[in-house]
Amino acid sequence: MKITAAEIIISAVKPEQYPKGSLPEIALAGRSNVGKSSLINKMIQRKALARTSSKPGKTQTLNFYLINESFYFVDLPGYGYAKVSKKQREQWAKMIEEYLISREELKVVILITDLRHPPTKDDKLMYDWLKYYQIPVIVIGTKADKIPKGKWDKHKKIAKETLEFDPSDKFVIFSAETGLGKDQLWNELLGYIKN
Ligand code: GTP
Ligand code: MG
Repeated sequence: MKITAAEIIISAVKPEQYPKGSLPEIALAGRSNVGKSSLINKMIQRKALARTSSKPGKTQTLNFYLINESFYFVDLPGYGYAKVSKKQREQWAKMIEEYLISREELKVVILITDLRHPPTKDDKLMYDWLKYYQIPVIVIGTKADKIPKGKWDKHKKIAKETLEFDPSDKFVIFSAETGLGKDQLWNELLGYIKN
């Protein structure tokens, strides 16, 4: 996919602030610090359009990035970060759920897990929740650059078993460092943004 334009349109905390119009949206979900914002940057070849951080809890709002004036990436706050107060976590959860359940423009969720480790309880909860609401999902195992190539398939297998993965879903091994998986992910996404 050739990226000709990418810009942030709004950091939203409530539905009234979501962009108007009916362009398709692709949301990024995953635990804090797993690499959601980094994946967006890699996919669109911009070093720092989506703000990233080595500290968890960087993304705190629903950030809508308009790509090629034809669709949005929606960067969501991460879940499972213990140092954020309970009240703050509940607010984020509510904000994320409200978006995921009610947003008609949402075509698919990219659920990002860390390929180095089995998916967490929260990852499993999120996957089950998306399946329950019949929201299309693509699962990513990211940070693949941090483990040897020979172990990728084994880690993918463990991830799928842990999630009780639906065989009709797609799983993509990814690295925001090397760009591994980028073309495969674009191929999967095209079906959701072309209409
Ligand atoms: P929150 O916004 O806090 O929920 O985090 P996030 O999921 O958006 O993570 P972010 O993209 O900010 O990345 C977190 C850290 O992981 C940063 O230090 C990134 O450089 C690093 N990182 C992300 N993806 C990769 C990857 O594929 N490989 C490696 N080696 N590091 C990565
Ligand atoms: Mg982020």
